[in-house]
Amino acid sequence: MTDKSVDDFRVRLGGRELVPIMIGGMGVDISTADLALTAARLGGIGHISDAMVKTITDRRYDTQYVKEKTKLYKSHADKPDKSAVQFNLGRLAEATRLHVGKTMEAKRGDGLVFINCMEKLTMNAPKETLRVRLRAALDAGIDGITLAAGLHLGSFALIEDHPRFRDAKLGIIVSSLRAFQLFLRKSARTHRLPDYVVVEGPLAGGHLGFGMDWAQYDLASIVAEILRWLKAEHLDIPVIPAGGIFTGRDAVDFLESGAAAVQVATRFTVTHECGLPDAVKQEYFKAKEEDIEVNETSPTGYPMRMLKNSPALGSGIRPNCEAYGYLLDANGSCAYIRAYNLAVAARPDAEKISVVDKICLCTHMRNFNCWTCGATTYRLKDTTVKNADGTYRLLSAEHVFKDYQFTKGNQITLPR
Ligand SMILES: Cc1cc2nc3c(=O)[nH]c(=O)nc-3n(C[C@H](O)[C@H](O)[C@H](O)COP(=O)(O)O)c2cc1C
Repeated sequence: MTDKSVDDFRVRLGGRELVPIMIGGMGVDISTADLALTAARLGGIGHISDAMVKTITDRRYDTQYVKEKTKLYKSHADKPDKSAVQFNLGRLAEATRLHVGKTMEAKRGDGLVFINCMEKLTMNAPKETLRVRLRAALDAGIDGITLAAGLHLGSFALIEDHPRFRDAKLGIIVSSLRAFQLFLRKSARTHRLPDYVVVEGPLAGGHLGFGMDWAQYDLASIVAEILRWLKAEHLDIPVIPAGGIFTGRDAVDFLESGAAAVQVATRFTVTHECGLPDAVKQEYFKAKEEDIEVNETSPTGYPMRMLKNSPALGSGIRPNCEAYGYLLDANGSCAYIRAYNLAVAARPDAEKISVVDKICLCTHMRNFNCWTCGATTYRLKDTTVKNADGTYRLLSAEHVFKDYQFTKGNQITLPR
């Protein structure tokens, strides 16, 4: 058995030696700037997310983007076709630059802050809005971008003429060798390899890059396959496994098998710095294994893992694309709008309806009512102590980070 800790390893990125711990992006503002900044201060890598960026800046920096958009498109509220409900690209760039700029201004220490950009946020104009999001993040000085929730076959091309295209760190999240190969093939024209690849297995939180047969896959096998292929191709791209890495020992196992770093998230959902409301953090602590499910209610079409008692499930709220609309596809439609309209048509006189097959992800993520989580969430209660009133003690992000970095074996250091 190894007596090493994560601290015996370093990852080289951007000409720096970093602690090989990356905190994954968690939208909407679950991986806050504070969380990402803690990772950077401790010499690792943190992520902010640009999911629903206008909501984030309205909340944190007193902007009025959502109000402005809602006012503009109010008259579309009852129309099933939302193709006219467009994002103002100038405002989108402004909001992204504000979110990223403020975060980078506050950065201290030797680590890095990246942003998680999900392709599945199609925003009623997939290519145009993604181009703006990526470029604005680079303009505002982000250290790196992690391309997520999508194959991103054209994403490098959207920024290849940006002055920071070669100096910013660019990586992608994949769940299979095939997806990675496809990305490399389609991006080859830009003569730039990704600086890292996050390999996300089926135990991760958020959306999964697998079908409902996710349980048949395992992270270690996918990582091993990708490492073998990279070696055979003489490609030197750091591989970063993610999904279910719960202890320092789990991380060391991957680092000893050739991974460059690990990406972790679930352990940080119960920290003070995490953006979830404290009451929701208690739900994560309390969860038992049977309280967690992977379902197909996300309108993105990807399976998503969440707590079964998420208030979003079964809720029949009216779609609010005039205010948000982050999941509208290129035709101004969303699977929740279709499900909602069917439910209304089935019970036209009902005062309150329930929609069971899809959830209104924008509104419910915004309100922290969709409790997405990793498969190991039921173990969080073992990472802390109970307060006198029966609640679980929240942790500091520094405590969790250092537990991963320094604790040997499968133990978890409890807070004092
Ligand atoms: C609450 C939560 C929200 C997440 N949201 C996102 C997201 O918005 N984008 C993304 O690419 N990954 C998301 N993830 C996945 C994480 O970034 C990470 O890769 C994964 O959860 C790591 O596995 P672990 O949670 O078992 O440590 C989310 C994970 C959690 C727990």
